[in-house]
Amino acid sequence: MKLRRADSYRGNIADLLAGLLAPIAPVDKGLDFGSGDGWFAGEMLRRGLAREVVAVDVQRRAEPHVEPLLYDGRRLPFADRSFPLAYCIDALHHCPDPRASLRDLLRCTGRFFAIKDHTYRGALGWLTLCLFDEVGNRRFGVPSLYHYQRAWSWSDWIAAEGFEPVALLHPAPCHDGLLGRASNHLQFVALWRRAGG
Ligand SMILES: C[S@@+](CC[C@H](N)C(=O)[O-])C[C@H]1O[C@@H](n2cnc3c(N)ncnc32)[C@H](O)[C@@H]1O
Repeated sequence: MKLRRADSYRGNIADLLAGLLAPIAPVDKGLDFGSGDGWFAGEMLRRGLAREVVAVDVQRRAEPHVEPLLYDGRRLPFADRSFPLAYCIDALHHCPDPRASLRDLLRCTGRFFAIKDHTYRGALGWLTLCLFDEVGNRRFGVPSLYHYQRAWSWSDWIAAEGFEPVALLHPAPCHDGLLGRASNHLQFVALWRRAGG
């Protein structure tokens, strides 16, 4: 598989995720929720973190690295607990109802759940995320809905579905240099596992 070069943001996230997933790798089958152009799905395979990755999204990009399975954005077409690892990278805040999507994604998760997304506390953080989102996504036709996590509210949602935290990277060094110093506190990467699983 030939992958186009990563920008530093995606390369940094892939490195952070790889560090979290190393102790459990390789998983037999990963689910990439909101896979976009499939670059991360390709990286999971290239880095030997998963033997197989199913990419799923609500829209298809031109020339994706890994072809996504398209679905209606409401209920994933998979059986309960059918993926040993599910992950979503900058995808949940694009869902009309992040909690409902998270619940459905965790329904399909067998053991481990990894997430890279945002967290903010005040108006400045929220506005910064809105700006990043528009700059990063508008050109790909991905609507920004501004449904970011405030503080750690999503962690409560994940725990309510029967998962416990394994690791949390926050601030997460996703951006380099000055941009990173100004905004990495809005970024996190986390790994969860099904409690008692
Ligand atoms: C910012 S992109 C991230 C793509 C990829 N994960 C990455 O980081 O390169 C957000 C993606 O979430 C997808 N998305 C939006 N609503 C969704 C839903 N309900 N279920 C799954 N994916 C969704 C969008 O189509 C888009 O591809």
